[in-house]
Amino acid sequence: MTELSVRLRPVAEDDLEMFRRFATEPGLIGLDWTGFRDAQAPARRFATDGYLGAEDSRLIVEVGEDEKAAAGVVSWIATGVGVAKYWEIGIALLPEWRGRGIGWRAQAMLCDYLFTHTPTPRIQAATHPENIAEQKSLEKAGFRLEGVLRSVEFRAGQWRDGYFYGRLRTDPSPLATDEPTS
Ligand SMILES: CC(C)(COP(=O)(O)OP(=O)(O)OC[C@H]1O[C@@H](n2cnc3c(N)ncnc32)[C@H](O)[C@@H]1OP(=O)(O)O)[C@@H](O)C(=O)NCCC(=O)NCCS
Repeated sequence: MTELSVRLRPVAEDDLEMFRRFATEPGLIGLDWTGFRDAQAPARRFATDGYLGAEDSRLIVEVGEDEKAAAGVVSWIATGVGVAKYWEIGIALLPEWRGRGIGWRAQAMLCDYLFTHTPTPRIQAATHPENIAEQKSLEKAGFRLEGVLRSVEFRAGQWRDGYFYGRLRTDPSPLATDEPTS
């Protein structure tokens, strides 16, 4: 099977329907479903800054060449200890685009993008013990498992452990040098 081309691009108005679906269709977003969210919030946020803010942002994961499709979204939010500031990233692909090599590449591209355009020393990501796809995807994107935090997340009626991953600026990128980071 030929490898799909994958790129990251800013959110456009047409993408808001996908965000509204993630907010209102139970489980569409995967294990991060935490109940219904305000379906109008995406339009308000888009009108404010196009989802490109100083503290948190989103980009669309776009696939295909002639026929382009929005496969999902990547996000990053500022975090840090004391005066340190670095990013925590997230991703959600629509179900029909999962398991096709898009998720790890989109997250690797997002890391390269953030290391290129911000001075962050590290990028972290958290996932669920049962989310094997995301664990493998993060490892393929150059992350290492840094630790397990016990009872860190309340989800689906229970407190649950979280797996925390990190990639440092000095860690090698798994992407070929000709893959675009934008
Ligand atoms: C998690 C997610 C981003 C992974 O992206 P993806 O495109 O589906 O995964 P990839 O195709 O890039 O696969 C990466 C690796 O995971 C493996 N994998 C993919 N889906 C898997 C599954 N359901 N079970 C086990 N392994 C899986 C792949 O085989 C590959 O490993 P390999 O190269 O050793 O074979 C995507 O499935 C998704 O958006 N899921 C719903 C939302 C979500 O869980 N987001 C993360 C929240 S923390």
